[in-house]
Amino acid sequence: MKRDIKIITVIGAGTMGHGIAHVFSRFGYQVNLYEPFDQVSETAMDKIKHELSFMAEEEYITVDEMERAMAGISLFSDLTEAAKDADYVIEACPENLDLKKDLFRQLDEICPAHTILSSNTSSLKLSDMTADLPKERQANCMICHWYNPPYLIPIVELSKYGNMDDETFDQVYNLYEACEKEPVRVLKDVTGMVANRLLHAQAREAFYLIDQGIASAEDVDRALMAGPAFRNATTGMLECADLGGLDIWCAAETNFFPDLCNDDKPAESMQRLVADGHYGIKTGKGFFDYPPEKQEEIQMAFYKRLITQLKASRHYKK
Ligand SMILES: NC(=O)c1ccc[n+]([C@@H]2O[C@H](COP(=O)([O-])OP(=O)(O)OC[C@H]3O[C@@H](n4cnc5c(N)ncnc54)[C@H](O)[C@@H]3O)[C@@H](O)[C@H]2O)c1
Repeated sequence: MKRDIKIITVIGAGTMGHGIAHVFSRFGYQVNLYEPFDQVSETAMDKIKHELSFMAEEEYITVDEMERAMAGISLFSDLTEAAKDADYVIEACPENLDLKKDLFRQLDEICPAHTILSSNTSSLKLSDMTADLPKERQANCMICHWYNPPYLIPIVELSKYGNMDDETFDQVYNLYEACEKEPVRVLKDVTGMVANRLLHAQAREAFYLIDQGIASAEDVDRALMAGPAFRNATTGMLECADLGGLDIWCAAETNFFPDLCNDDKPAESMQRLVADGHYGIKTGKGFFDYPPEKQEEIQMAFYKRLITQLKASRHYKK
């Protein structure tokens, strides 16, 4: 018989960790948030409050839920104190294999035998991160990959490979469902899991269309939002193909697959922008311009659109 998940430890209060922490606390879990660096932990609770307040202002959650979520998070600067009673741990520390291996080794010593250990890694292999652990602990380890911003994007990709038993996997799957997340089972240890592979297959073509002069950046984005992505927010790719007619899709793909981009390197336009120090909003320029005085407004408008979609997706589920 497995233990219920009640206490959750989140490791790293950076971009992902602080957001992951308030999702779990909002749904009633006791969250221990560990952050080793003072300059990050000093601002973590403010960031959490800001995001929860935004959700309350947008009437996605109530003020009571916001206050409960704030009260459910404790900050720790000592890993042992943060993790010794955890039923489930998710690490969101920097994407560095040695660092994550070391963390898993420490957690194996600190945590009780029943604790499930997970990583939010975007690109590392589970088998590499857990290579030094005993088999029994490896059976309690998995990848749980969230999308940014974690409190607004529903998906969490769960590794369903390795030597974890079905009962333990289902426990984590149910945890995410209980937090209104949309868990996806990833059955093989592949880079990019599922969502990022789908994303970057489309991104490769989007950048190629610009490099070939086939459409402007504005029109590539408009084509996506008003076309495929408009459908795909409610209806998946495979169901759209079924609804459209597989004979038509098969004929179309036979005709234009030879013309699609299949480069194994990032597009020239992308490489040029990066080489020139244009990283997008954080440097003020990417495919589009982001004047400093408009950056906050642009960022908030993006979050508002996401929360509108989140409200709509609640509606679809009912
Ligand atoms: N940012 C994204 O869009 C995104 C999306 C999905 C997954 N991820 C993955 O999530 C993980 C975290 O990414 P992030 O963007 O939040 O990074 P980040 O750099 O914003 O945050 C990492 C945090 O970990 C802390 N940290 C540093 N050393 C540590 C240690 N030894 N032990 C514990 N904490 C430590 C840092 O102080 C920082 O607060 C990475 O594995 C990344 O690949 C990121």
